[in-house]
Amino acid sequence: MWYNNILETIGNTPLVKLNKITKDLKGTILAKIETTNPGNSIKDRMALKMIEDAEQAGLLKPGGTIIEGTSGNTGMGLAMAAVVKGYKCIFTTTDKQSKEKVDALRAFGAEVIVCPTNVDPEDPRSYYSVSSRLEREVPNSWKANQYDNPSNAQAHYEQTGPEIWEQTEGKITHLVVGVGTGGTISGAGRYLKEQNPNIKIWGIDTYGSVFKKYKETGIFDKNEIYPYITEGIGEDFLPENVDFSVIDLFEKVTDKDAALMTRELARKEGIFAGNSAGSALAGLIQLKDSLKEDDLVVVIFHDHGSRYMGKMYNEDWLRERGFLEDEKLNAKSILKRRGEQAIVTADVQQTVFEAFNFMKTLNISQIPVTQQGMVVGKITESDILIALLENPALKSSSVQDVMTKPFPFVDLKTSIDKISALINKDTQAVLVEDEFGKINIITQYDIINAISEA
Ligand SMILES: Cc1ncc(COP(=O)(O)O)c(C=O)c1O
Repeated sequence: MWYNNILETIGNTPLVKLNKITKDLKGTILAKIETTNPGNSIKDRMALKMIEDAEQAGLLKPGGTIIEGTSGNTGMGLAMAAVVKGYKCIFTTTDKQSKEKVDALRAFGAEVIVCPTNVDPEDPRSYYSVSSRLEREVPNSWKANQYDNPSNAQAHYEQTGPEIWEQTEGKITHLVVGVGTGGTISGAGRYLKEQNPNIKIWGIDTYGSVFKKYKETGIFDKNEIYPYITEGIGEDFLPENVDFSVIDLFEKVTDKDAALMTRELARKEGIFAGNSAGSALAGLIQLKDSLKEDDLVVVIFHDHGSRYMGKMYNEDWLRERGFLEDEKLNAKSILKRRGEQAIVTADVQQTVFEAFNFMKTLNISQIPVTQQGMVVGKITESDILIALLENPALKSSSVQDVMTKPFPFVDLKTSIDKISALINKDTQAVLVEDEFGKINIITQYDIINAISEA
């Protein structure tokens, strides 16, 4: 048995029980793992459906160009289908999106125009406006418009909803979905509610987005809008694909909670999913008091973790945003654990003999060499030994003649992993300037001590 092309492999994604992360929750929590679609996201479904409907309606003609404003996943689905069906693609996206997502679109031969995030949708520079302008200017082009194109929600009404209904044998009680264009929640939610109106449809929103307040008050509040980090969900306008009548409630999740929960999924469940999966699960956990023992909850995991390698799966990225709770040891904490210790240095003008005796008295095997307070090199026992073996007369020459290049400098935030990687048989220590401008040395010995005390 084989498929005629890659597009035939879209859909029929697995439903997988979560075990560890959800152990304190009542009910059974299942994840609909959309990463097994060929473009690694749920968006393959609606991308193909939008193209097929446009072909049927005569809007997309042979050799045409598909234009879309996309955060990546829809673009991936469109680009993949365009390759198989022989269309060109031009995408506009925002500078907030992962570089990996943009590169992935280019891998399919698509043209990608990156636009600024922090401008109004009506601004001519916004990715919505740029894609609309392209649609007017590029001949034989069709704009997919995933926000308002009903084929988007329809794809989930025809596929995602029925799959979930069948996979749970009609026992599903709650559907939890991160909401962006609204296609997934509205289409799958509408299908499921038609089967059983008691099924609860919970939308996950971000801080900085308008959905929750609009659902609760009917007010489109511009004050709710501000930049946020979470990708794929939340909006600063109301897409036509969000059917508020299908959604029972919205829950907002912070960028930090979404990012950390995304990581937890890989570590605790072995599921390598994207940012909105973490957000949806974090939202469900916030709502746990509303669950009962016999509930059967399905959470949508929209896309794959590989698209977030430079983001929540990167410790430096997390640290820069203050998201790391279990902060590993770094230069600052190593110094703190060791306590105050004056750095011992040799001056370039000292003789090799003086410096060696000095090191021997203090029982240290390497010291930085300074010139007028600046670190200019280092001497180590072995450097001195090798130099003296070659030329015993060097004993009375100056340190300058035997010193080697200085120990590398790191900053206070440098992690213990990075410091350890810098230390080797030629570089036995690193230097770090503290908050007061004082230079400290961190040796292998300090690192071992810090780890054994941790
Ligand atoms: C990663 C990710 N999660 C969630 C969503 C939201 O899905 P929908 O647009 O169907 O509401 C998207 C859509 O862009 C997405 O790319």
